[in-house]
Amino acid sequence: MRKNYVLKGNICYCIESSRIEISDGAYLVCEDGKSAGIFPSLPEQYQDFPITDFGECLIIPGLVDLHTHAPQYAFRGLGMDMPLMEWLETHTFPEESKYGDMEYAKKAYQIFADTMKKGATTRACIFATIHSEGTDCLMSLMEETGLHTMVGRVNMDRNAPVNLCEPSPEQALADTEEWIIKSRTQYRNTEPILTPRFIPTCSDMLMEGLGMLQQKYHMPVQSHLSENDSEIAFVQELCPWSRCYGDAYDRFGLFGGADCRTVMAHCVHSGDDEIALMKKNGVFIAHCAQSNTNLMSGVAPVRRYLEEGIPMGLGSDVAGGCTTDMFRAMVDSIHASNLRYRLFDDSLKPLTPAEAFYLATKGGGAFFGQVGSFEPGYEMDALVLDDRNLPHPQELTTLERLERMIYLADERNIVHKYVAGRKLF
Ligand code: GUN
Ligand code: FE
Repeated sequence: MRKNYVLKGNICYCIESSRIEISDGAYLVCEDGKSAGIFPSLPEQYQDFPITDFGECLIIPGLVDLHTHAPQYAFRGLGMDMPLMEWLETHTFPEESKYGDMEYAKKAYQIFADTMKKGATTRACIFATIHSEGTDCLMSLMEETGLHTMVGRVNMDRNAPVNLCEPSPEQALADTEEWIIKSRTQYRNTEPILTPRFIPTCSDMLMEGLGMLQQKYHMPVQSHLSENDSEIAFVQELCPWSRCYGDAYDRFGLFGGADCRTVMAHCVHSGDDEIALMKKNGVFIAHCAQSNTNLMSGVAPVRRYLEEGIPMGLGSDVAGGCTTDMFRAMVDSIHASNLRYRLFDDSLKPLTPAEAFYLATKGGGAFFGQVGSFEPGYEMDALVLDDRNLPHPQELTTLERLERMIYLADERNIVHKYVAGRKLF
């Protein structure tokens, strides 16, 4: 597979959160699947690389979805009229329990994988269900898309219907270890990630065992944190010994720190202690603004997280969020921050389009390594965007065109997609 080439066009990317770098009509060099830099004219040493000239198109880093649920894609946009705990019980758990049926799982996961392939997402952290076979099926299908993803077989052993609880912590851990061993060598682009659903559905014994598996296999971790007030109260009841919700993960070694890359979705209601712990442990936040609106969870203080330097990206959180579209996730994050600022907290300035773009690219990309930018050494995840379906009478700068894409683009604007140097279409 050829991974040395040059893409020419109007290149837009972030180095830092506060601004977007623009290079018009520039050469983006891909060497061995990684960016070798952006140049106004092509340096001598790359003259042999094949060049594709995309003319007036925009070239941006691929977008990163730090939190989504594949088995919830089938009911996106349905039953969006209740808060988290009721929604899980009424819609989510019954749907997820169907993924023990492989015929259903295959059909549903194929639809999800096809959607992810066509869309703007190049990297994603994905929840499956408690079912090992279903999770394997999802991993194989994601592998075929060419996206680079982390996929989690979900752990849960309490406070859920019997058919969605693993039979015992011992069995859950044995099945999880078997799945880790099998899946971590089976794929090139698809990696297993430890996925305790959240504290309410995971017993202390299960969490303790997962902490041991994390250490043994150096596994990354994904879960949910401080999304909703009644969820937080329930965690305090279940773990009276914990200082905060985050501490309930930390006690079991599942909350960041050295050798434990962790991403927590939501963090809408995290208090000072929890924020300090996330900062200390380098825990990533997946900010899922649309889900937080649909499930009436609230609005996360993203400006504070940015200022504190907590690593953060955006998540679609399907089906809490009803779309996998990360362009939409950028706009939703801006909208939510606008409302927070206007309605109840003018101490935190709203997100700018540049900041939303940063979060969807380099911010979330950092969970995958050097991903989400075109700085030299970054893996070549790129989207070529054609905005000619959105004509305009006035002159627009490239930055203005990008801003319009953030607000108006969908998959029809994506003409080419590259992941880690490989062209998917
Ligand atoms: N908390 C635990 N499970 C879930 C889920 O499936 N979706 C959301 N939004 N929050 C959760
Ligand atoms: Fe979620």
